[in-house]
Amino acid sequence: MVIKIAPSILAADFTRLGEEVSLLEKGGADMVHIDVMDGHYVPNLSFGPMVVKAIRPLTNIPFDVHLMMDNPMEFVDEFIEAGADSITVHAEVLPHLHRSLTYIKNKGIQAAFALNPSTPLCVLDYVLQDVDMILLMSVNPGFGGQEFIPGMLQKISELKERLFKANSNAIIQVDGGISLKNIRQVTEAGADCLVAGSSVFSTSDPAAMIRLLRDAGSK
Ligand code: DX5
Ligand code: ZN
Repeated sequence: MVIKIAPSILAADFTRLGEEVSLLEKGGADMVHIDVMDGHYVPNLSFGPMVVKAIRPLTNIPFDVHLMMDNPMEFVDEFIEAGADSITVHAEVLPHLHRSLTYIKNKGIQAAFALNPSTPLCVLDYVLQDVDMILLMSVNPGFGGQEFIPGMLQKISELKERLFKANSNAIIQVDGGISLKNIRQVTEAGADCLVAGSSVFSTSDPAAMIRLLRDAGSK
């Protein structure tokens, strides 16, 4: 199986963001992962819809927008207008998961739920058949460049099993601390799509690193 790589522009050089996004196309990135942080849900601030809109014309790669916000549903429309192809919202902040999912999907884009490392999988049991992707955080959200939490390997396998039992086609995305060192283990546990921030952008050749990561993680 060929895995998907979603480089996170949180780790890009913001003084040359346009060029960095173009490099992702050269490396054959499957999606551009855009980490939106609100300073409440996570202890950091990043960027909003204006930045998404500014970089949208630079590439045809789908934009995968990860909203680390207390009130993500209030911004879904703005991010769609800015060019999001999929929107990920954290299950921890939403009282009506099915309603949120339906809202996003009815706008004609893909919908995903994210779970922090300590959030149990069972919160998603009754939406598994409708959701397009599930993002498992493998670090505590808020910052790039953190270490992968080893206990998440078991969580990935358990999610894979739950999806299989529920007959769900949702893909498993894993986000945080992914590098050439651990990507194989993570995909063997069941991940289909890997977010990679610092491991891609801290090298001198991000496009080559995307290909290396994909090869290392694919079976
Ligand atoms: C963390 C973000 C991640 C992060 C990944 O809050 O959701 O997407 O930027 O960065 P690395 O790959 O450096 O852990
Ligand atoms: Zn992310």
